[in-house]
Amino acid sequence: MEIKPAERISGIKPYFFASLEKTIVELRQNGMDVIRLDMGSPDLPPRDFIIESLVDSARRADTHGYGPSGGSASLRAAFASYYLDRFDLQLDPEKELLGLIGSKEGIFNLSQVLINPGDLVLLPDPCYPVYPIGATIAQAETYSMPLLAQNAFLPDLDAIPDEIADRAKLMWLNYPNNPTGAIAPYQFFEKVVAFAKKHQIVIAHDAPYVDVCFDSYQAPSILQVAGAKEVAVEFNSLSKTYNMAGWRVGVAAGNPEIIRLLRMYKSQMDSSLFKPVMQAAETALLGDQTWIEGRNQVYQQRRDLIVATLKEIGFELEVPKASLYVWAHLPEPWADSVQFCDMLIKQTGVSITPGVVYGESGAGFVRVSLVTPVERLAEAMTRLKKWMKEKV
Ligand SMILES: Cc1ncc(COP(=O)(O)O)c(C=O)c1O
Repeated sequence: MEIKPAERISGIKPYFFASLEKTIVELRQNGMDVIRLDMGSPDLPPRDFIIESLVDSARRADTHGYGPSGGSASLRAAFASYYLDRFDLQLDPEKELLGLIGSKEGIFNLSQVLINPGDLVLLPDPCYPVYPIGATIAQAETYSMPLLAQNAFLPDLDAIPDEIADRAKLMWLNYPNNPTGAIAPYQFFEKVVAFAKKHQIVIAHDAPYVDVCFDSYQAPSILQVAGAKEVAVEFNSLSKTYNMAGWRVGVAAGNPEIIRLLRMYKSQMDSSLFKPVMQAAETALLGDQTWIEGRNQVYQQRRDLIVATLKEIGFELEVPKASLYVWAHLPEPWADSVQFCDMLIKQTGVSITPGVVYGESGAGFVRVSLVTPVERLAEAMTRLKKWMKEKV
């Protein structure tokens, strides 16, 4: 029997990292020592007190059944406490916060609850691929907002034609940004909220890197802007802030009607988070936060090593103040980042990500991630430098 996929998924290709995985397995089978600088999954573990909370909770007999849809009341209260401490923001745990099985789930589902076929969605280019995939599955039309070096990798709102802005239903933003490592000043968020109100657009701000900051920088939340809750929903996550990527716990925060719709949709789609994960997430959110600064210094040291090496061999880049990535433009005569990354991994074992994976405006760029211990990173940078010199 011929299995015919639904038309709405026919344009979807396998996730880039799934095909990269295949190449890496083959290279390793052939004896290549592959160093992965392509992923955004933190290599450092969560703090012991968080793991202990998970274990203690898992040992109890009453924590193995289904959890409450949208996360327990105490998990949502813990997120409210985090938003109050971190951003001085009051959020109603019942109406303005929703627990997610990792923020990726909520990001994908937002398009399913808001978008009708043919609705217009504004997407940054480059961007995290789940925004366009969510829009594609919802059969949206999309409009690209290029993130360019000359605009500090912020979208130029004034360049969006009025008829596009008036038709648009949803705009995605993500700061600190994956893949560019750019940050957004608070004033930019003020401008975005005013733009959204004028054109009646929902703003989805994706902020999983909000606590991965360097050089004493503190990233803002879009919800700090007065009136933002009228138009905005923010996604946040424990994956990067607390090194808990595999645990799958995130949050949607902000506009109560969007939270209500997502909550209703999710009550049909999933069966909540594992109770011990929710308990440990509460422990992470309510417990000691001082270790995060030390962890960020580890990333900062890695960032400095990557930045120094890439600059030395001619890449153009801005030093990122946050996120887990260095975004760098290839030096001449290189132009094709897919070809560059493919040759690099096959000839040296160093794996980095071609920028074009995140959108057309990423052509000519590569993304190097910070989630590898500094000794291995140093080895990768030595190989990269040597290889580049041989190629010239
Ligand atoms: C921009 C961005 N948003 C969302 C996510 C997903 O995070 P989570 O682990 O909470 O699903 C990632 C993960 O890499 C990301 O880079």
